[in-house]
Amino acid sequence: MLFSKNTYVERRARLRQLVGHGLIVLMGNNESPLNYPANAYKFRQDSSFLYFFGQHRDGLVGVIDADSGAETLLGDEIDIDDIVWYGEVTSVVQMAEECGVAHTAPMAALTEMVAQAQKAGRKVHFLPPYRHETMIRLHDLLGIHPSQQRDAASQELIQAVIQLRLVKSAEEIEELERAAAIGYEMHTTAMRLCRPGVTEAYIGGVLDGIAASHGSMVSFQSIVSMHGEILHGYPSARPLEAGRLLLCDAGAETREHYCSDHTRTTPISGTFTQRQKNIYNIVVDCHDLALTHARPGVRWWDVHYDVCRLMTNRLKDLGLMKGDTEAAVQAGAHALFLPHGLGHAMGMDVHDMEGLGQTFVGYDEETRPSSQFGTASLRFARRLEEGHVVTDEPGIYFIPALIDLWRKEGTNAEFLCFDEIEKYKDFGGIRIEDDVLITKDGCRFLGEKRIPYHVDEVEAFLAARD
Ligand code: GLY
Ligand code: MN
Repeated sequence: MLFSKNTYVERRARLRQLVGHGLIVLMGNNESPLNYPANAYKFRQDSSFLYFFGQHRDGLVGVIDADSGAETLLGDEIDIDDIVWYGEVTSVVQMAEECGVAHTAPMAALTEMVAQAQKAGRKVHFLPPYRHETMIRLHDLLGIHPSQQRDAASQELIQAVIQLRLVKSAEEIEELERAAAIGYEMHTTAMRLCRPGVTEAYIGGVLDGIAASHGSMVSFQSIVSMHGEILHGYPSARPLEAGRLLLCDAGAETREHYCSDHTRTTPISGTFTQRQKNIYNIVVDCHDLALTHARPGVRWWDVHYDVCRLMTNRLKDLGLMKGDTEAAVQAGAHALFLPHGLGHAMGMDVHDMEGLGQTFVGYDEETRPSSQFGTASLRFARRLEEGHVVTDEPGIYFIPALIDLWRKEGTNAEFLCFDEIEKYKDFGGIRIEDDVLITKDGCRFLGEKRIPYHVDEVEAFLAARD
């Protein structure tokens, strides 16, 4: 367990207060088979379960009676067979004691607890499940078909969990700083390895290994590709080619599952060409803009749109866009180059709490999602508060299929200089990403050491490596 017993006791007390009534059931994760039952993916606990109970073992469920305050940790004690294969582990009674839960029960007791609450006409609160195995367990427990479970999940519980987890405490920020330090090691290693002839797969494997060497894993599947224009381009066995750019988007989780998420785009030859520099410097300036604009009270939606305006102006200077900037941005013309949002919330999930519903996490009554291409992928938009953590990840991509489609359809033709854009179809894509903590009166990047990203720093770093 990462934090003191008191942290978990207080979190559950606040949750109980926010939900107000009924029985709260928080499902821990179970082992998930890879290719046969006994060969499982590396175990990953559910982040909300971890947030309220702090325990990493599979086979646990936490129940909080919001009316009486009674709390129970359910789980089956291990037997001698488990000990023979996996060794001694902490008992359920001990785990409950560690996180300040008064009662324990075997898993079979859950059915009766839920049935009694339902019989008494009390609400059973559960979060939307994202693993099929959890869906089956919920189906057995509540009789709700998996296809209905997202709608049937408790709005009160979803909103309460988001309210608590969205604002990071000082002790959580320390843990996020640890994740950022692993991210620094991963990305500076990738930059050191980035040379002609080395494969994307090799770099991807080293990144994964660094995260694993810290006792956990990557926070999402590492993106390592010379085709930076493919937003989630996974590493291939292709050797890196001189003159091209390598986009590397990767992060780590600490052992307690606090995440980092960084992207760097590195010239494989060690220096940028002038054409690469022209585009790269626009992305740098868009990335740095968030630092001067983001602070409590400002909407991330507005920071995103400030970035879109700056990008449009600079692309106009390069002869790739034209017309009135505001009109172009309102029409979504910039999304040809930036088809995603400026960032997403980050915490114990790299897209924090996305399983609870992205709109609930990133939006509020005042700020509603857009269905326009590009802005529809803005995962976070709400008014910022001290303690929010959000990624700042602008990019410029030249996606041949999208360019062809928009040209053919005439989409935003009054703002796009297609003849000039055609010349960039072999360019690839650039993204620069860091993780931003909203502070009392501004914001700062997480991570004590910056992974180089300004042109001169990157070229100096690459020139100095052995
Ligand atoms: N860094 C990967 C993503 O945000 O989707
Ligand atoms: Mn990201």
